[in-house]
Amino acid sequence: MWCSRTALGRLQKIAPCTVTGFHRAISTLPKVYVTRKVPPDGLDILRKSGQVQFEMWDSDDPVPRVELLKKVKGCDGILCVLTEKIDAQLLDAAGPNLKVLSTMSVGFDHLSLDELKKRSVVRVTFRDSFLEVCVVYVALCVPRGIRVGYTPEVLTDAVAELTVALLLATSRRLIEATHEAKTGGWGTWRTLWLCGHELANSTVGILGLGRIGVAIAERLKPFKVKKFIYTDVEPRPELAKMIEAEYVSLDELAKESDFLAICCALTPETHGICNWNLFSKMKKNAIFINTSRGGVVNQEDLYEALSTGVIAGAGLDVTTPEPLPTHHPLYTLKNCVILPHVASASYTTRNSMSALAANNLLAGLRGEPMPKELKL
Ligand code: DGY
Repeated sequence: MWCSRTALGRLQKIAPCTVTGFHRAISTLPKVYVTRKVPPDGLDILRKSGQVQFEMWDSDDPVPRVELLKKVKGCDGILCVLTEKIDAQLLDAAGPNLKVLSTMSVGFDHLSLDELKKRSVVRVTFRDSFLEVCVVYVALCVPRGIRVGYTPEVLTDAVAELTVALLLATSRRLIEATHEAKTGGWGTWRTLWLCGHELANSTVGILGLGRIGVAIAERLKPFKVKKFIYTDVEPRPELAKMIEAEYVSLDELAKESDFLAICCALTPETHGICNWNLFSKMKKNAIFINTSRGGVVNQEDLYEALSTGVIAGAGLDVTTPEPLPTHHPLYTLKNCVILPHVASASYTTRNSMSALAANNLLAGLRGEPMPKELKL
């Protein structure tokens, strides 16, 4: 039962799961499950729409998988975040009512796109009334026809800003420097102590040129970067023109970049693309920055490159796994700055993401074009 007052009362006692929604004609409204406490703007849109009855996992921590599989059953829509694996098991658990999946993220590597596109198998059972046994199972294939919304653009500024902050923190050794100051390592002024690498006159490489790559370059340009280069599956002349970036091969990108920013999506093609083959070609003074997904990096190879001085430093906002266990060897390296996946974490951006995710969901359920729909 969703959103009757008694059910509401009962469910509110079971923290952290809370039911919120619409109390009129509820049985006719599409049923939606929200897998995490979303920022207020998105929640308000859902509440005020009067178009859905929804239940939300009212917690900052992920809903346990077993609970999730139970909750999505019979839903018309799901609003999720990037920690939920949306795979065959979940889609089967949701069942044939599911029409819209809206993720509050620009990345969609947690969604099994093949499964979303695929046909689902509906099992039809005929019962023989005379023998009182099930005698035939027929498997019918019907298209799942699930539409997917995501949240590009609204987070571009926040991610670009954080990428620049991480780049500077890594290249100018800010974390090491504050540590030294706090722990008594600050003695006299020394000529080469805590020296890093500067952006002026440098070559900045971008792996995966999209909106975020362009926004990073626009912010770095005033630091007097000499040249921007990029690689991608193919040249992106329109975007490249905005930042006067030159298209190069992956090898050239590795060899020429003083700073290398990873901005590509995680796909089977980019999985582990930043490996020894890439690091070993990079300059000794190079700074590697990743704010895309941890899966694009081979972390063992990165550790090797950082600990043996093959490259100068790395700033990572994303890792594999997340959270990265506190005993992970990368934490032992002074030249590796690790952040807990916070690139889009500004109040404005997270609210915009939740609003866009809510609007995508509602538009999809109305059968209208979504503000930002992922073309499957
Ligand atoms: C995303 O949206 O995919 C980012 O990684 C988190 O904001």
